[in-house]
Amino acid sequence: MTNASKQDHVLIFDTTLRDGEQSPGATMTHTEKLEIAEMLDDMGVDIIEAGFPIASEGDFAAVSEIARRAKNSVICGLSRANFKDIDRCWEAVKHASRPRIHTFIGTSPLHRAIPNLNKDEMAERIHDTVTHARNLCDNVQWSPMDATRTEEDYLFRVVEIAIKAGATTINIPDTVGYTAPRESAEIIRRLIENVPGADEIIFATHCHNDLGMATANSLAAVEAGARQVECTINGLGERAGNTALEEVVMALKVRNDIMPYQTGIDTKKIMQISRRVASVSGFAVQFNKAIVGKNAFAHESGIHQDGMLKNAETFEIMRPEDVGLSETNLVMGKHSGRAALRSKLAELGFELADNQLKDVFVRFKELADRKKEIFEDDLIALMRDSDAAEQNDHLKVKSLRVVCGTEGPQEAQLTLTIDGEDKSVTATGDGPVDATFNAVKELFDHTARLQLYQVHAVTEGTDAQATVSVRMEEDGKIATGQSADTDTVVASAKAYVNALNRLIVRRSKSAPNEDVKSVNYKDHG
Ligand code: KIV
Ligand code: ZN
Repeated sequence: MTNASKQDHVLIFDTTLRDGEQSPGATMTHTEKLEIAEMLDDMGVDIIEAGFPIASEGDFAAVSEIARRAKNSVICGLSRANFKDIDRCWEAVKHASRPRIHTFIGTSPLHRAIPNLNKDEMAERIHDTVTHARNLCDNVQWSPMDATRTEEDYLFRVVEIAIKAGATTINIPDTVGYTAPRESAEIIRRLIENVPGADEIIFATHCHNDLGMATANSLAAVEAGARQVECTINGLGERAGNTALEEVVMALKVRNDIMPYQTGIDTKKIMQISRRVASVSGFAVQFNKAIVGKNAFAHESGIHQDGMLKNAETFEIMRPEDVGLSETNLVMGKHSGRAALRSKLAELGFELADNQLKDVFVRFKELADRKKEIFEDDLIALMRDSDAAEQNDHLKVKSLRVVCGTEGPQEAQLTLTIDGEDKSVTATGDGPVDATFNAVKELFDHTARLQLYQVHAVTEGTDAQATVSVRMEEDGKIATGQSADTDTVVASAKAYVNALNRLIVRRSKSAPNEDVKSVNYKDHG
């Protein structure tokens, strides 16, 4: 399929597992990556960028396994512009029935300065690496990183070289979220008009959201002839994130009258995967986020509610069912059984094996005893907690009792299980949460710095669960932790411990990452 031959179809390239996972603190486990990949494959994503195989043993293993398991999607891996990266990428993606190698190099003046290549040397590097990739795989994507800040004549030159060397997709990244819709369209239009061979390949658009224009820039590029949109679920990604898959797909669906392009995405699966990605990445979706935010279909003002009751179209441009939101949100109570729980969790994107269900059911009953009504969001919080608990091998909160109130000092009596051994301490602090965190630190000494502490109520009412998010940093490595409980201080302690556990895992991963830094741009492998 080329730009010319399939005018109305837009390919969806999802990079949640690569660009999304690069967001500081969004690391996913191997199992979580496989699960998200399966959901992407199932919802009709055309190409899944499953990871950066040379980045770590873990990335390599995840990309290889996703490649083996994929049923429909093309499986793509990322590689820098050197033979060693490309070979490693091929080793991982070759197991897919439809593999793709994606290789890139920064072409703007700022990025050319990093490997210290002049224009001619870089052009030669592009020719050599794309040729090498194409000799391994007949589906090759090439990206000039920071394309939107690259001199136009040089961009035309290197795109032509990549096409001649065998690239089948040329991706135009707006790496720093700098472009605006008119310019985004213009770049694609001028590439198609001016670069020899442009009509034989697919142009892709890859936009970051630093100025909040990523989705608009992607759609403008589509209108100018791009036929692949690169995006992530919930717009997850470095800094302000990437174009959000759900926004592009729903915009093309709802405004098909003015943007007559189709995607193969089953939009009814959007809500399910959005919740799952929020849960495994630890990046909660903001309430007013387009399409997938909690308030996207909520109406509170009297006028809006009145209008909605008379005709939903007065204030809704799409139906909640279109994105897989069920009409009623009140789901279960203490009399609900195991089968009902399993089916509701499946609807929310959690497929559980029998032994997992057993554990979750016990926790569900405990919650139902404390809380009259259980909503979908309560179940999601419960699942997020049990996901976290599975990873928490080193530290666990065994018990916590706090003394708080107007008379200080506030105090926390905490018992942690550290590598199987119970350890207790009593610590004081400026409030019960501070006292609790001090107690954790006394039991498990660490140098991690707390960067963020956030609490929000999962649902309404004084018996609502509080979700606590914690973000910690240690030697440049960032980990987030989350937990929910009807007791805010307990949720805080568990979230803090969850973040520490993730940091411990990250510490052990640092060795293979060092490898990557030593593979420099001049290394042709
Ligand atoms: O934003 C970017 O430039 C990228 C490239 C690796 C394609 O993610
Ligand atoms: Zn990117």
